[in-house]
Amino acid sequence: MLPAHSPSLAPPPRDQTLLGLACLAVALLVVLLVRQLVKQRRPPGFPPGPSPIPIIGNIMSLATEPHVFLKKQSEVHGQIFSIDLGGILTVVLNGYDCIRECLYNQSEVFADRPSLPLFKKMTKSQGLLNCKYSKGWIEHRKLACNSFRYFGSGQRLFERKISEECMFFVDAIDKHKGKAFNPKHLVTNAVSNITNLIIFGQRFTYDDHNFQHMIELFSENVELAVSGWALLYNAFPWIEYLPFGKHQKLFSNAAEVYKFLLQINNFSQGRVPHMPRHYVDAYLDELERNVGDPSSSFSYENLIYSVGELIIAGTETTTNTLRWAMLYMALYPNIQERVHREIDSVLPNGRMPTLEDKQKMPYVEAVLHEILRFCNIVPLGIFRATSQDANVNGYTIPKGTMVITNLYSVHFDEKYWSDPGVFSPQRFLDANGNFVRREAFLPFSLGRRQCLGEQLARMEMFLFFTTLLQRFHLQFPQGSIPTVAPKLGMTLQPKPYSICAVRRQ
Ligand code: HEM
Repeated sequence: MLPAHSPSLAPPPRDQTLLGLACLAVALLVVLLVRQLVKQRRPPGFPPGPSPIPIIGNIMSLATEPHVFLKKQSEVHGQIFSIDLGGILTVVLNGYDCIRECLYNQSEVFADRPSLPLFKKMTKSQGLLNCKYSKGWIEHRKLACNSFRYFGSGQRLFERKISEECMFFVDAIDKHKGKAFNPKHLVTNAVSNITNLIIFGQRFTYDDHNFQHMIELFSENVELAVSGWALLYNAFPWIEYLPFGKHQKLFSNAAEVYKFLLQINNFSQGRVPHMPRHYVDAYLDELERNVGDPSSSFSYENLIYSVGELIIAGTETTTNTLRWAMLYMALYPNIQERVHREIDSVLPNGRMPTLEDKQKMPYVEAVLHEILRFCNIVPLGIFRATSQDANVNGYTIPKGTMVITNLYSVHFDEKYWSDPGVFSPQRFLDANGNFVRREAFLPFSLGRRQCLGEQLARMEMFLFFTTLLQRFHLQFPQGSIPTVAPKLGMTLQPKPYSICAVRRQ
């Protein structure tokens, strides 16, 4: 018989502590797991959707061509359905009718941005593009719209400045003497200079490596922002402390871009208060006007966030549109030939195009519209959220729910487009060759958060495209036809390709 308190049977104190800690860890894991599973449950009245995997939900399904996957799901679950992004219940809107109902008819209800850890980390959910629907957003949007009108697209002189940039652009292309080159950097530099003129009042030369590097990092972040790692970070922010993962690259890029943008001070040198020359001056005026008002959202930090957002929103989108346009012109020589014919007939003897010529060029307009429809530059828009409880098609969506607007599904909506998978500028022309607007065309989205750079982007696309095609014939190097499969990210861009721009006679 063993004594009641035999030392050989009772665990030593150190083992007891370990056992206790292990039990605590298991209990904590169980609590976290239950909490996660509860978060993944759809509330009553919420739109249905595909079954989620425990913990990570439907994140893995978005790894390849999420816009295509989500459109396919809408064929099963209906135009409005929901997915689970690791405990973040998200409503997905598909098709023109549904997106119009939410973004236009219920504009204010769908005007918010989600409270995602990534937006908080990048811009503290302030600035302009990622900003919550709030007084801060209204103040920043108003200032940006006024600045774009005052220093940019609303000014006759500005058209001349874009034309000047077009000349720098075609001269730089000419240096390749018809030999193959990747147009990405030139297009990016030329396009970003238009936004730079409004924001800083100056352009950067095409060999300004610091600026180029900043744009490259920013552009990489547009890609990384919807990567699996970014979605995981939103669901499980503690992965910030893992030493690996693409989200780390996203953070380090953002820190470097922020450092570059701190040089903004240089652009306000020589500023005369209340006589703004560009967005930065106008912002500093607002900042000073609101000194002492604790409710004002204008701050030096928000100036940097909003400048960064305007630069990247203006550059990445318009650049990708023009890169797709160049690729498709080389891919469809018959379409390119018709563009050449129209340009030559409206602009005799090589006269520079002006915006007034736009009305006389329905085919060029049709081509640019078809590029925007077919190539879906921002396929899922920018994530939205409900600013209050919403009712759509009999479903109940609580306030603060994340919303994805599948703009791709609008442009491939069979109810509005015949053969949407065929590239055909003709669909934007009537029987007499006049340009016709189409309803289910939303590359700039809709409603309160609709793109504020639309007018500027349209000016840029027309002037850059016609100036380029007026001078050059675009063709691929012998024996190489690039893929049209897009590189995925928040925007869809062509994979790097080489093209020859051969001077026209
Ligand atoms: C072809 C070119 C462009 C396309 C396809 C495009 C598309 C879009 C889309 C789809 C959105 C999301 C709207 C939403 O939340 O539903 C957006 C927002 C925005 N865009 Fe554009 N965009 C283009 C050019 C520009 C330009 C040139 C600028 C300015 C320099 C700009 C500035 C912005 C800003 C600031 C927002 C956020 C608006 C807000 O949250 O209030 N975009 N754009």
